[in-house]
Amino acid sequence: MKEKSSAKLTFGDGRSIDLPVYGGTIGPDAIDIRALYPKAGVFTYDPGFLSTASCNSSITYIDGDEGVLLYRGYPIEQLATHCDFLEVCYLLWFGELPNADQKKDFDLIVARHTMVHEQLSRLYQGFRRDAHPMSVMVGVVGALSAFYHDSLDIHNAKHREISAFRLIAKLPTIVAMAYKYNVGQPFMYPKNSLSYTANFMHMMFGVPAEEYEVNPVLVRALDRILILHADHEQNASTSTVRLAGSSGANPFACISSGIACLWGPAHGGANEAALNMLTELQAQGGVEKVGEFVKKVKDKNSGVKLMGFGHRVYKNYDPRAKLMQETCREVLDTLGLHDDPLFKLAMALEKVALEDEYFVSRKLYPNVDFYSGIVQRALGIPVSMFTCIFSLARTVGWIAQWNEMISDPEQKIGRPRQLYQGATRRDVLPMAKRP
Ligand code: SDX
Repeated sequence: MKEKSSAKLTFGDGRSIDLPVYGGTIGPDAIDIRALYPKAGVFTYDPGFLSTASCNSSITYIDGDEGVLLYRGYPIEQLATHCDFLEVCYLLWFGELPNADQKKDFDLIVARHTMVHEQLSRLYQGFRRDAHPMSVMVGVVGALSAFYHDSLDIHNAKHREISAFRLIAKLPTIVAMAYKYNVGQPFMYPKNSLSYTANFMHMMFGVPAEEYEVNPVLVRALDRILILHADHEQNASTSTVRLAGSSGANPFACISSGIACLWGPAHGGANEAALNMLTELQAQGGVEKVGEFVKKVKDKNSGVKLMGFGHRVYKNYDPRAKLMQETCREVLDTLGLHDDPLFKLAMALEKVALEDEYFVSRKLYPNVDFYSGIVQRALGIPVSMFTCIFSLARTVGWIAQWNEMISDPEQKIGRPRQLYQGATRRDVLPMAKRP
């Protein structure tokens, strides 16, 4: 990184310290505060990391004010229109879009890793059938490290690559198996004559008793949904993967930690929460009840949030939400569901919110999760599986970010400090003397 300028920090007692400032190719500059504690004996304080760059990265760029999202410099709108998900996986991992030969080779490599070890399928039996599929995902993905002792040297670039390709290839199989286990149907083996996303839908909705009919429009829609979720800079789950990876943990354990973090309703779990919110509102009266519901959201004491709205970085419309809404309309039209009440309710809710001062003043717009539940439900994906699909898509982003961190010569174990507010030193009193 090239030093662009410097910043002077002056303390109340007259001391001052000059800190280097680095410039990115686009986006805000960053003040390098690594010398701050050693030289000035103070920490910075930034819970939630609102103003903190945890790393330097070349993978994804977000401009929250403009509503811009670039994967390796390419706008998400162009990738979602002109590419398929495996092309985007190639781009995120290698940094460039594949040419025709590279695409063919990559598709074949991924296809050849779609099966999981037969022993792994026994792991599912250890869960209750009604376990939340995300709990199964955390367990099964973490357990992958028990099967690949041959490629766990994280300092070997080839091991990192084969682990990444195994994860990209196996996540659809693992997610589909979690669904089949939940509904009590037999696991479907991958069918490598199908495309990546068609294969996933075949494993999800196919049964051994009959041929599964692939609907190309629905496959394309789901493939686009995977592209929209593939990576997103240093979000909570990606930061979790990086922090876990910084200790030298194996890639499978790191991805499992990312899945665990993504599950939270403030993060990837919001698509499930948003659909549950819409379903509940529909049951209470639907569009007529929108005004009353928005009033409750605005009342701090209600504890009710408009799930699928707001974002730490986007203070404008999440570009993915726009693309998701379009995909939603396409799928509903294809399925003859243009009058889907939940879609109409979501659009009514969005309209009211975007005209309400509470949301406008806080720059709260629909995010990727607001429409994704409606389109996934229309595709036949049960609500409990939504965040599993998000995990499937985000695995490529997580593993690309993990790889970038491990390959960074400056990489150190992540170990934040704190502003201590607890008791000062005191001595233990004998029991008899304690108050
Ligand atoms: C994802 O980071 C990423 O990139 C994540 C993600 C990715 O691809 O990895 O984009 C995926 O996680 C999208 C976000 C999904 N989460 C939700 O939809 C849950 C609902 N949204 C919120 O919980 C919230 O907006 C967050 C968590 C997403 C962002 O929270 P911030 O940045 O910490 O903002 P905040 O909580 O400080 O909110 C600022 C104000 C507060 O009001 P005031 O205290 O100023 O009065 O806005 C209010 C909040 O109460 N607010 C909301 C709201 N979101 C924020 N009020 C009602 N409904 C909401 N959804």
